[in-house]
Formats: sequence, C-alpha cells, structure tokens
Amino acid sequence: MCGIVGIASRNEFPSVLLLDRLKRLEYRGYDSYGYFDGVRLKKSLGNIEVSAPGKARIGIAHTRWATHGGVTMRNAHPHASCDGRIVIVHNGIIENFEDLRKSLVRQGHRFSSQTDSEVIAHYFEEGLKSKSIKVVIKDFLKAFIGTFAVLVQIKGNDEIYAIKRDSPLVLGVANGKNIVASDIYAFSDMTNRAAFFENDEFAVIRPDGYQFFDRRGRAVQKPLQKFVWEQEASQKKAFKHYMLKEIMEEPETVDRMLFSLEHEQKPAFDRLIKLVRGSKKIIFASCGTSYHASLLGSYFLHRVGIETQTLIASEFRHYANIDRDTLVIALSQSGETMDVIDGLKYAAESRGRIVGIVNVPYSTVQRMSELSLNILAGQEVCVASTKAFVNQAAMLLKIAQEFGFRVNLDNLSERIRGLLRKKAEIRRIAETIAKAGDVYIIGRGLTYPVAREIALKIKEISYIHAEGMMGGELKHGTIALIEKGTPVISLINNNDPDIISNTKEVEARGAKVITISNNPALANRPDAIAIRTDNDGKFGILAAVAGQLIAYYAADKLGRPIDKPRNLAKSVTVK
Ligand code: F6R
Repeated sequence: MCGIVGIASRNEFPSVLLLDRLKRLEYRGYDSYGYFDGVRLKKSLGNIEVSAPGKARIGIAHTRWATHGGVTMRNAHPHASCDGRIVIVHNGIIENFEDLRKSLVRQGHRFSSQTDSEVIAHYFEEGLKSKSIKVVIKDFLKAFIGTFAVLVQIKGNDEIYAIKRDSPLVLGVANGKNIVASDIYAFSDMTNRAAFFENDEFAVIRPDGYQFFDRRGRAVQKPLQKFVWEQEASQKKAFKHYMLKEIMEEPETVDRMLFSLEHEQKPAFDRLIKLVRGSKKIIFASCGTSYHASLLGSYFLHRVGIETQTLIASEFRHYANIDRDTLVIALSQSGETMDVIDGLKYAAESRGRIVGIVNVPYSTVQRMSELSLNILAGQEVCVASTKAFVNQAAMLLKIAQEFGFRVNLDNLSERIRGLLRKKAEIRRIAETIAKAGDVYIIGRGLTYPVAREIALKIKEISYIHAEGMMGGELKHGTIALIEKGTPVISLINNNDPDIISNTKEVEARGAKVITISNNPALANRPDAIAIRTDNDGKFGILAAVAGQLIAYYAADKLGRPIDKPRNLAKSVTVK
C-alpha cells in the first residue's frame, strides 16, 4: 500500500505542508516519496524529510511501498506525462498496465519508470488532446482494471482530480483547505469533517470547494460526516522508537477499549454477541498479526463451545463456503488491507453477514461491515503492530467471556504494566537472541498463535529468521534443525505436560531454552520470563507482549531501523 495526499487551499501554503501531511501516512509505505506543488516536482528515497522550499495553492504528494518496479528515484511518485504538464500520484495496482502502456507507446509516449502507475499520466495526456477532463476520467474508469486511488494535477490549473476504485480515499475539509488523502490520519489533527469516496466515484477538488461525480459523470451530493478520532500525540517523546512507545501504551489502550465495550460501544458489542449466537458458521478473515489474534480468538471461543474457522484473508475465497447463515468477522488494524477487503467482497457476494473489528474508524472494512467495533488502540505509527494485537486479542477474549470463558479482565492492564516493568530483564534475554541466525518459538493450544506472532515480530523487526510452531510438530521434522545453542522460546502455560516435554526434547539437543511461563516452578530458570496470571486467556496476551519486547530489544541491539525497515536517504529535485 502507498499513501497519497492532495491539498487545494484558498490561501497560499508553504509547500512543506504537503510533506508534513504525508509524514502522517508514512506507515503506509516508506520506500520513497515525492510531491508536486504546481512548480516543483521533487522525489526522494527513504524516510520522509519534512522540508521543502516555496509556496503553493495546489499540490499532491505520495509515499511509496514498492510493488511494480524497484526502489529507485525513477519509480518514485509523482509521475509526469511526456510534456511534464500532467502529474499524478497513485495508490493501488493497475492490472492491465502492460496493455495500456504498449498502446500508449505506439501513440508515441515515452515512459521513464517501470511502474504500473506511470500509464495514468500518459493516458490523461493522450485523452486531453481531444477530450474534456471529465470525459477522460469516465474513459479511465472504463479502461483501467485494478485498484486505484489516483490524484491528477495539471500544471497551471488549480484543480485536483481524485478518482477511486478499491483503494481508500477520503476528503477532509479544514479551515480554508480541502485535503484529499488515503486516510483520515492525514488531516485528523486539522478537522473532524470528511467525505468518503465510494468505488468508481471521482471528485474535482478546488481551493474554494469540491464536487463528487459517479462513474457516468453525474453529480453526487455527499454530505460531510463528522468523525471522532482521538488526537493522540504521535510524537515519540522520550522513547527511542515508536515501537517501544506503542508497547508501553498497551495498559492504557486496553483499558480504554474494555471501558468502551461496557459503555459507548456496548450496544454494538451486544449486537455482535447476538450475531455470534445466531450464526451457524463463524469465520475470521485477517492477515499477519491480525490473523494471529483471530487464531487466538478461535481458541478462546472453542473453549466455550463455539466453533469458528480462521482463514488468512488472501486465501479466503479458496477455503470458505459462505451463505446467509455465515458470519464473517474481519479483523484488521488498518481496515484497509486489500486481501481482507477482497475476502469481504467475496463474503458479500455470497450473502454472508459481515462484522468488522478495526482500529481505524471509517476505514473500508468498517464501511463494508453491517456492524463494526473499534479496538481503540490509537494510531500505530510503527509499521509492526503491537498495541493493536493486544486490543484485538482482548476484544476476542471479552466476546468469549460472554459465552462463559472465565477471566477477570479488570486487571489485564495491571498485569501488562507489571510485565513491562521487567523490560530490563527481557532486554538481557533478547540480546542473547540477537546473536542467533535462527530462533524457534514453540507453543500449544492458545500459545500456538502467540508463538507465530512472536516469530513474525522477530522476523519483521530484527530480520532474524524465526519460526513459530506447535510444539507437537517439532518431532515431525523441524527438530533436525535444533543444534547446540539454537535459541528456542518455549511458551509454557501452567503445567502443560506436553509443552514441558517438547521443551525437554529441544534441551536434550542442546537448545538454549528461554521460557515464557506463568508456572512459578519455572520462574527461577536462567532464561525465564515469569508471567503473573493463572488465567489462560490473559497468559496468551501477556506472553505475546513479552515476545514483542524480545523482538524490539533484539532489533535494537542489532541496530535495525525499527520504525521504518529501510532507510535509503538520498534526495534529488526532478524539475
Ligand atoms: C505485522 C503487521 C502485519 C499486519 C497485516 C494486517 O506487525 O503489522 O502483519 O498485521 O499486514 O494488517 P491489518 O491488521 O491492518 O489488516
């Protein structure tokens, strides 16, 4: 995914505002970035540096997550037409770009990047030779296959043309400024009034107003919606990295969500419980960390007699049979993950019922759901998801509690706080892992998804190969890889004899075992992280928090760029 921003302002603004707004979307992509302020088209590689000369009344900007074409200056957005007059930014994937490109090359267009996006600039240049902008946009919607949120700017013209299909796009109206962006983070500190684009809609955005249109070019009246979004300080403050800041926020964010499930979100929560009770089949759809939280949810619900399936959203269509009695629960921090959206489209086509559990309000997943709950974790600036995982898992535990799972959630935040106080101890253990080439994390039952989540965090942040697996699967092959000194993190819930025996198996092969356990008898082992709770549900969440800290400190020890996995700072002005 990439992030895009466009600003049309009644009064001149410093061009740096484009980068300032873009910086808030950097979590969506951080390979390269660029902007066009009507005069200057500037591109850079690496993290966004919020500095730019000059002033503008209209401008567009883009932060890239590379898909088509490597991380190079040429592939960075914005892209311009041959004559440099038409400048575009794009988030999404143009599936038929090769055909479009061939035909534009035949018409004499010269391409300078390997991206799928550049065809848009040339397509507009060609179309505008004989047609009005509105007709070109209507043709564009017919000719282009794929997903897109596109902003088009024409030199010397003070309008931005914004077009959307399947990639998010929202217009915020702030004092004298119309800001169009991939999500409300871009302007949530400036306004709480926004209009959300639907698929195949486009808008003409001017300094003094805007107009939406449908795919046939008919005007669409779109009232501004007021959105509520906590304006948290997104600064790191005293923390070295956002990841650490966000882990440290977990006690507050989990309390905030649990409180809201008893108060303002109570009606929605009660409806969700009713839906779960009345559904013949329940399927979770999610990716990455959210998938691991969903797996944990499946475990919690299974324990109280509710069978669910958890599917990775990118495989959803291949494994799910959906009908009117199926409840699909989409778990997504951003609410914008394309694989999740795709799975939900399939669910909607098959007439399933859809519930969204998201962190970003007004996101696409939320808007595709008949009922939506918010995990209220606040903005996750770090690309690695941490506090959202805790709140997702706590939400699912709360649902299971409604069906009889015995757990006291009132002291969950206190337990997390207690664990976070042990960070120096965890750091010492993590620093020993930092020396390893491979790490294995084993769990059983509820700790299996946690093992996978810890492995994902270690891989993503410290770039150490890590595998999270079921302890029972070790003997079926993977144990061959355990050698003297191989770090194995064992997640031991109470006295679970099976995982204890798996731990002994790896120890017998010389593994360096680190235990994360709530079993007091294991608390004094040399590399033990002791968790204070005798409740299974809470143990799962707390063990994941310990794993987040391990991943963080291992990465910090190795000097990895934790908040942004790549840093290729280099800058050049194109025009
Ligand atoms: C890992 C991570 C990703 C996301 C995944 C799904 O730290 O952040 O694995 O969990 O991309 O994203 P959402 O939850 O936004 O759908």
